[in-house]
Amino acid sequence: MDIQFVAADAAIPAKTAVARIVFEGDVHEGAVGEAVSASRFTGGKGQTLDILAPQGLGAARLVLVGAGKRDAFDLIGAEHAAATGYNAVKASGLETLRVEVSGGADLAAHAALGVRLASYRFDKYRTKEKAEKKPSIAKTLVATVDPDAALAAFPDLAALADAISFTRDLVSEPPNVLYPAEFASRVKALESLGLEVEILGEAEMMKLGMGSLLAVGQGSIRESQLVIARWNGAADKTAQPVAFVGKGVCFDTGGISIKPADGMEDMKWDMGGAGTVAGVMHVLAARKAKVNAVGILGLVENMPDGNAYRPGDVLTSMSGQTIEVVNTDAEGRLVLADALWYCQDRFKPKFMVDLATLTGAIIISLGNDYAGCFSNNDELAGNLLDAAKSEDEGLWRMPMPDAYNKQIDSMIADMKNTGGRPGGSITAALFLKRYVNDVPWAHLDIASTAWKKPSSVPTIPDGAVGYGIRLLNRMVRDKYEG
Ligand code: BES
Ligand code: MN
Ligand code: ZN
Repeated sequence: MDIQFVAADAAIPAKTAVARIVFEGDVHEGAVGEAVSASRFTGGKGQTLDILAPQGLGAARLVLVGAGKRDAFDLIGAEHAAATGYNAVKASGLETLRVEVSGGADLAAHAALGVRLASYRFDKYRTKEKAEKKPSIAKTLVATVDPDAALAAFPDLAALADAISFTRDLVSEPPNVLYPAEFASRVKALESLGLEVEILGEAEMMKLGMGSLLAVGQGSIRESQLVIARWNGAADKTAQPVAFVGKGVCFDTGGISIKPADGMEDMKWDMGGAGTVAGVMHVLAARKAKVNAVGILGLVENMPDGNAYRPGDVLTSMSGQTIEVVNTDAEGRLVLADALWYCQDRFKPKFMVDLATLTGAIIISLGNDYAGCFSNNDELAGNLLDAAKSEDEGLWRMPMPDAYNKQIDSMIADMKNTGGRPGGSITAALFLKRYVNDVPWAHLDIASTAWKKPSSVPTIPDGAVGYGIRLLNRMVRDKYEG
């Protein structure tokens, strides 16, 4: 999508759809006023009124987009309204969208971000889509009082949109294409943004003693990978980094504890946590954040096979702690156990945040609009929740009561890899906590939010969300830069 900022009084090019963001109580004049009175449009949030060939406007089409109360209009409101306008006309056959947004330059810049996010589409494997079904809008003009100021505010938001698209692509890719080595090489390509990327294979992980992560991938013909991406943007390149760790199960069959056939295709997005970590590193590098950051991705494929790990196996993790496997489908925590340990051992970070599509139980707990936040540190958790609120990403603090630890006691090893059904997300978090020493740490269980179908948010097309990039980017910007 080509984005430009233009003056409010700029001429309207041919084949343009105008999306005009309006508010409750606005008075509309002339033909537009007549159209409004002939409809139930009140300017309420999310409402649209589509007017074809509006008289005297010089546009092919005018969509009024309701944004609710003018006083409550904010940056997220601008994103949503602009995205709603885009969605209303994206396949209209028109090629240019002009979004009219009143108010300051930041609102205009966020309107542009809204269109960027809404226009994301993963269509590389469609070969037969009819031309008239394809989105036609290729250019967006955001009309505002101060286009220069809006343009100046846009680069950081464009970096964010690029990162979210990058992650959405990773999450959308089918599992025959995006296996661990392919995922790793796509992150390696981010070196062009200034990241430093190391890739460890199975032999190297074996030397490090990563018996927990390696067990998960041992039934796959695809080699497991550990990716370490670094961005050193702080003035002091040796300053303690912030760290993000992602579960990257490129496909989760459940292994020998195999999943039911229905919906198993969804397990291609079981690498969503690692996808988000890659996206966070992308945006930090692209906007040259003044921070040192590390992103660690544990990439595996969980398959049933003659060489697969079994229920009953006892694994020795890099930490030295042993794990009795009772369910090979509780594999994400096994990957993270070694990735978290490696991260704190090597980098001694300021904090570690892990992201993982870890448990179905978090969907039962929170539904599809909130991820679960588990943390050993109230300040870090508070920063995450604040950032999530500002960026309109649902996040809810979950408890980690010590008493539930007994559910993961094992008769023959230091722990079992699952604690049964009750509190499944909590015992998973307690398992991870055993691989974290003194460092402030948070675990975001994003099984509920990594994928949205159907989506109810105009800036998120159905499918891969890119959840968490916004909130983590925001938290770093507000609390850890400079
Ligand atoms: N990847 C799944 C969790 C998941 C479920 C993600 C639905 C997205 C949507 C995870 O590896 C898993 O299988 N978890 C099990 C744990 C159980 C065996 C203790 C689960 O949630 O059922
Ligand atoms: Mn699983
Ligand atoms: Zn999984």
